[in-house]
Amino acid sequence: MKKDLLRMHDLTKEDVAGILDLADQMKYDLRHGRAHRHLEGKTLGMIFEKASTRTRVSFETGMYQLGGQALFLSANDLQIGRGEPVEDTARVLSRYLDGIMIRTFAQREVEDLARHASIPVINGLTDLAHPCQVLADLMTVRERLSALSGVALCYIGDGNNMCNSLTVGALTVGMSVSLAVPAGYDPAPEVLTFARTFGDRFRLLRDPREAARGADVVATDVWASMGQEAEAAARRQAFAGFQVNDDVMALCAPHAIVLHCLPAHRGEEITAAVFEAHADSIFDEAENRLHAQKAVLSLLLSAKN
Ligand code: CP
Ligand code: NVA
Repeated sequence: MKKDLLRMHDLTKEDVAGILDLADQMKYDLRHGRAHRHLEGKTLGMIFEKASTRTRVSFETGMYQLGGQALFLSANDLQIGRGEPVEDTARVLSRYLDGIMIRTFAQREVEDLARHASIPVINGLTDLAHPCQVLADLMTVRERLSALSGVALCYIGDGNNMCNSLTVGALTVGMSVSLAVPAGYDPAPEVLTFARTFGDRFRLLRDPREAARGADVVATDVWASMGQEAEAAARRQAFAGFQVNDDVMALCAPHAIVLHCLPAHRGEEITAAVFEAHADSIFDEAENRLHAQKAVLSLLLSAKN
């Protein structure tokens, strides 16, 4: 594996398999009272420029369970929030910590941090990517459908960070991907360029019903992401019809599972009925953040020294 996890592009199919195998083992062992203390004495710094429930709690708990500790660092309280350069922050934190997790707006900031840090940097969400969430999503798919290769994923909604990382991650592990995204809200150009190298395994559609037909997995995400609050009303109009509801579910495979990274807006990207009918897979997905990230932390942070 590379030093950092900044985007799903950083992981090969073999890397993902290795992470998910370790995550499955850690989940099983945790349930059976067996601890993995791979990170005794190690410290993860967690820089947050955006809100979080799952990412903060799963990383912090994960470090604790691995024998290490995590520091919550609000960007508002760091000198970085007052203009200290990222390259200086990276070099200073590398003298104290064993790894950095960062949630921010610009992917560029995360890339700069990683380039100047001698310790691993993990992307905990940017406007472009959410790789940790997608590892948990793939873990959930494998757990529920016993396979990744050949599984048909449909994503309905905004071509945002989740759409970008799910598309790259799912194609990397051998799934097919059908996106239903309104015109003007497409995934990042680099994601489309990558996806189009997979031929028929990738489709960018404008009709959710066409994308859903025969799908094994249906995923969605909010219409307005963090930082886009001012666009929420315009987005509600643009995304009307791009909803995971009973009509869409009726077109999927009978065994289809639903994924949502959360938080969810019932009545917008997903109906309350579909959400509750598939709450088991959605909350497994949330739980799997813990296990998948413990695997990533173990592999990246214990590689140092
Ligand atoms: N899915 C996810 O990343 O949730 P949080 O924003 O609560 O961390
Ligand atoms: N697309 C959402 C994901 C939240 C986990 C956002 O960026 O706000």
